[in-house]
Amino acid sequence: KKGRSYLIGGNWKCNGTAESLQTLMKEFDNRGPIPKNVEVAICAPDLYIPLVKKSLRSDIAVGAQNCGVNESQGAYTGEISADQLLDVGVEWVIIGHSERREGFGMVGEDELLCAKKLKVALDKGLKVMFCIGEKKEEREAGITMDVCAKQLAPAADLLNEKDWANMSIAYEPVWAIGTGLTATPEMAQETHASIREWVKEHVSADVANAIRIQYGGSMKGSNAKDLLAQPDIDGGLIGGASLKADFFNIIHGVP
Ligand code: G3P
Repeated sequence: KKGRSYLIGGNWKCNGTAESLQTLMKEFDNRGPIPKNVEVAICAPDLYIPLVKKSLRSDIAVGAQNCGVNESQGAYTGEISADQLLDVGVEWVIIGHSERREGFGMVGEDELLCAKKLKVALDKGLKVMFCIGEKKEEREAGITMDVCAKQLAPAADLLNEKDWANMSIAYEPVWAIGTGLTATPEMAQETHASIREWVKEHVSADVANAIRIQYGGSMKGSNAKDLLAQPDIDGGLIGGASLKADFFNIIHGVP
């Protein structure tokens, strides 16, 4: 894969208790080594991050699932700033997850807000998994890449070329999230290749070659191998299966 290592992210979303997550982290301890060409990060609910920092095996990095658009601490009720995440040892953050873009049926985050959060997080020193992806009706209408381009464009406007070294793009077709419907490896590969092409045209060939594009949407141990074997699929962002020991079957499914 042209020198790219794999990136496997776990997104625990709003799941778990201190007790259940500790049990899960203990299960992870017994799952053998992580291959050298794989980087793994778990994005935990903010409340449990200190606990996860303490109990998670040390070869897995810790991430958050969102951060504030505010550049510093201050009067931003309910927000957590990038520097606060860094203060407790967080390395990664997910920005632009479709659940946040959708706003849980209420007010969501638009493309510009996601791009601004991305820029703030990168400027502060976090690494970012930046999520994009189309809804079912958009795929059916044949506008998958238009949707992805619309989500990427404000990021390309705000970022400097060097910023792209500290982020990945997580392609998560919304219809595949939590539904058990995975994109076929061919379908995912086709979109990943188009996303890489877009980055080549709008950022640079070097960034396009280097950036890791993760697939997300009902990835699990049994389907990971075929997805990860595709030339433009450089990892996964895993929801449901990251809350089980099956997460390690995904990690070990890397070619
Ligand atoms: O961010 C991960 C994600 O949205 C996929 O969730 O449960 O389909 O693996 P899931």
